[in-house]
Amino acid sequence: MKLVALVGSLRKDSFNLHLVETMEERYKDKFAIEYADIRSLPFYDQDQEDPMPEAAKKLHQQVAAADGVLIVTPEFNWSFSGVLKNALDWLSRGDRPMNNKPTLVAGVSPFMMGTLRAQQHLRDVLVSPGIAARTLPPGGNEILITFANEKFKDGRLVDENTLAFLDSIVDKFVNLVQGK
Ligand code: FNR
Repeated sequence: MKLVALVGSLRKDSFNLHLVETMEERYKDKFAIEYADIRSLPFYDQDQEDPMPEAAKKLHQQVAAADGVLIVTPEFNWSFSGVLKNALDWLSRGDRPMNNKPTLVAGVSPFMMGTLRAQQHLRDVLVSPGIAARTLPPGGNEILITFANEKFKDGRLVDENTLAFLDSIVDKFVNLVQGK
């Protein structure tokens, strides 16, 4: 199984990036993770759609070829990040490769809300017609990682309770991808 990760933070030492790296190692027997290069995408511009810029074309191809998508987002000013919205806007056009694509959402914050508000906004976008991704049902399946400074060590998620919860959600997501 192959997943494409859209990491909504561009910084090198991003907790959200470290979450994906943790998942890459911990679930290597379940799936491989490929990183989407959302940094290289130009700002979405309808005048540039035909032909699409190479970076957008590549993103479309990556998502189309993947069994599922992993979206991890920081919370910036009570929402998900602009770079992530830009990537989703590109993906909503042309062949719309996100349509019905199994998609797992997660987010990490150093604070007590754990990207709750960012993920609420993101959910609205994920059900819009241009995206229409297939996600786990809301109400218990949200991966909201709070107080990241205490739960990550040397660039990896190490908090046992959080890892156990993550294991349970990943199992459900693998079933979703496999149509179980
Ligand atoms: C933040 N941060 C933040 N945190 C939060 O829980 N709610 C918020 O609304 C915001 N807003 C916000 C705006 C801006 C511009 C910055 C730079 C930061 C803090 C943010 O969660 C923290 O920097 C995370 O570490 C960012 O994620 P990465 O880069 O570690 O993945």
